[in-house]
Amino acid sequence: MTDLTSRKDAALAAIAAAPSLDALDEQRVAALGKKGWVSLELKTLGAMSADERKQAAPAIQAVRSDIAEAIDARRAVLEAAALEARLASETIDLTLPAPEKPKGSIHPVSQVMDELAEIFADLGFAVAEGPEIEDDWHNFTALNMDETHPARAMHDTFYFPEEDGAEHRMLLRTHTSPVQIRSMKKQGAPIRIIAPGRVYRSDSDATHTPMFHQVEGLVIDRDIHLGHLKWTLETFFKAFFEREDIVLRLRPSYFPFTEPSVEVDVGYSNEGDRRVVGGHGDDEGYDWMELGGSGMVNARVIEMVGLDPAEWQGFAFGLGIDRIAMLKYGMNDLRAFFDGDPRWLEHYGFSPFDQPTLSGGVGARA
Ligand code: DAH
Repeated sequence: MTDLTSRKDAALAAIAAAPSLDALDEQRVAALGKKGWVSLELKTLGAMSADERKQAAPAIQAVRSDIAEAIDARRAVLEAAALEARLASETIDLTLPAPEKPKGSIHPVSQVMDELAEIFADLGFAVAEGPEIEDDWHNFTALNMDETHPARAMHDTFYFPEEDGAEHRMLLRTHTSPVQIRSMKKQGAPIRIIAPGRVYRSDSDATHTPMFHQVEGLVIDRDIHLGHLKWTLETFFKAFFEREDIVLRLRPSYFPFTEPSVEVDVGYSNEGDRRVVGGHGDDEGYDWMELGGSGMVNARVIEMVGLDPAEWQGFAFGLGIDRIAMLKYGMNDLRAFFDGDPRWLEHYGFSPFDQPTLSGGVGARA
């Protein structure tokens, strides 16, 4: 009995003095672990007669609960101290000023995407997204390009290997137009969205990279006509290029998912080796440059997403983001966009503190 008491006192003293959670755990194992001395004491009860056990058991069980309690208490103290220490070591001084010249900058593509969202939000457009790994139904079929449509071949598609039994062939989306399909299926009509994002084609030279960026636009409502399309694009480009003398030319073209289809050209002139948008492309010293495709959404596409084309019409457009970024900010090699060269980013990047706003200017460079 005295032996038990003195061992208990020794254990309690060691527990109270345990300097760390690890040391405390060693004490726990030594006393209460499978082969700990308290556990071994408890085991001796099994070999006793019923009377002996009645005598001996309460004392041993009391030792076990005293030690367990002491361990819990010490653990709480050590854990609180550990948290204190961590909080003390991890404080940040929020009163410190930011570094004078922040490292890192916003890539022109991200900047232009923010500018697009800002301008189109003001016109009532929401920003929609879709997957970059797409299936051929959304990328082609639903856009009125079935399996045998020759326009499919024009897209230089990166396909994934065909999978046995799969309903659709997977691919890297070749344009942002499948987001039209996903948005209409999800949301129905009326709808007003833009969808900026990455697209992929197996093509590469000074003006083509295997990955590039597009922004899709889609408006579906009642009584929408080509005039709405032209006004929307003109209003957008005036806000984007921050000049009033933007002149657009809609040139008849063909896309399977629009009818009629037009290509959108903008008037520009040359200033040194830079193209500057503005002016009428047919005037002396001016020319037209293509910015993207658009048109009235083909009735077959509207049917494909389960809407009634007798009730709903709309327009769509697709613009190359990299291209309009180059025009606005004066870069001339598309490949540099994706090199990740810090000198290029330092030169063409934007300050993270310089968010585009309509009131502050969508293109202000700090
Ligand atoms: N998806 C077309 C492409 O990448 C561009 C385009 C043309 C988008 C006409 C449209 C459109 O929404 O109406 O070549």
